[in-house]
Parts: sequence; structure tokens; C-alpha cells
Amino acid sequence: MAVQISPSILSADFARLADEAAAVAATADWLHVDVMDNHFVPNLTLGLPVVESLLKHATLPLDCHLMIEEPERWAPAYAEVGARNVTIHAEAVRAPVRTLRAIRAAGARAGLAVNPGTPVEHVTDLLSEIDMLLLMTVEPGFGGQHFLDIVLPKLRQARDLIARSGGSVWLQVDGGVDEETIERCAEAGADVFVAGSAVYGADDPAAAVQALRQQAEQATAHALWAR
Ligand code: DX5
Ligand code: ZN
Repeated sequence: MAVQISPSILSADFARLADEAAAVAATADWLHVDVMDNHFVPNLTLGLPVVESLLKHATLPLDCHLMIEEPERWAPAYAEVGARNVTIHAEAVRAPVRTLRAIRAAGARAGLAVNPGTPVEHVTDLLSEIDMLLLMTVEPGFGGQHFLDIVLPKLRQARDLIARSGGSVWLQVDGGVDEETIERCAEAGADVFVAGSAVYGADDPAAAVQALRQQAEQATAHALWAR
């Protein structure tokens, strides 16, 4: 199981997004784009026009994380313009099967996210409809928050459910992932790691990605779930 690193541009300089994307292009696997609507979360970031512009400049595939209400209305469009992954929130979506299928039909990988307080059982029946499960390790809305340890048992549980369902769903963590916490995430079962402040808050974002990857790979090599 390969470790993948997805730097979050939420912690980058929004006025220089093309440069910030280029800064991690050689070492990261994805570029994580946090779309917030000030309704599902108490913060507002960017939307489809900015994603379309970024697609013209970024060489990494875009991992769009939609923290918005009514994702059924917006999610397929992100896939249609060229985002390689589109993740919607289980707490926000009313027609998950239809929406996830629309994302896949438009050519993207379909992701489903759950907040720290949402039981993983709520999405068990949807595993066959998704390519990635995102377990939030902070309450969504802001970068630079403290990692929530209470999600670790849920990560183990999710990894177990994925293994029993066939094992092809990626398991992503997002929030407070840094050099202190990434090993615990990898040990518990995560294989895709979003990091905002740990990457863009570093003097050398590309080197920060490499360091995080190395830590995650080492922890994965010793993890029971990966054997
Ligand atoms: C938070 C966002 C994250 C955020 C993570 O709601 O979904 O992607 O950028 O930032 P850090 O890594 O700083 O916690
Ligand atoms: Zn995110």
C-alpha cells in the first residue's frame, strides 16, 4: 500500500496559488483544495472558478474536498472541469449514491468524508460507491488545529471495514497531520495524508512533504494492517 501526500493549499498564499502548487509538484502526489461555503463550515474559501484556473497551472492532480451544503448540486461540476478526486461530506449529502455515482461518471475518483463525531458505521454501506474515505482528524473549517486522537480507533475500524470489503478504498486523514502525528495515523490505517500548515508553514514545503512521506512509510512498514 503506497503512502500518498496531499498538501493543502488552505495554508498557502492564495494570491500566489500557481507558485504554491509548483513548490510541492516534485514531491507530493496530490494538491488538496478545500472548498468551504460558510454554511457547512464557518469559513469561506474558494469555488469552481478558482479550481478551473488552478487546473491550468498545477501539474499535480487536484484533490477537491467540498465542505459545502448541497454537494449534490456542485460536486459533479468539479469532476467535469478536471478535478481528479472529489470528496463530499456524509453529513451534508442527502442523496449520497446518486452524487457519488455522478462524480465517478464525470471521470473523477469519488471521496466521502466524515467529521470526528460521525460514526464510521454511517458510511459502511457506501464503501462500494467510493474510491476514498476521508476521516477528519479535526472539526472541518480551519487549518492549523490540533489533531484529535479520538479519531484513531475509528481509523483502525475503517481500515478493517475496507479490508473486509476488498481493500481498494483509500483511507485519508485531514487535520493536524504533521511530524508529531503522521506516524500514529499510518499505524492506525491511513494511506493518504493531507497536510496544510505542516507543509506550507515550513521553510521548504517540498522537503516537508518528503519528510512526512518518509515518516509515514516507516510507520506503515511496521503496521499490522499493512502486512
Ligand atoms: C480543514 C481542512 C484541511 C486543512 C488542514 O477543514 O479540511 O484540509 O487545510 O490543515 P492542517 O494540516 O493545518 O490541519
Ligand atoms: Zn481538507
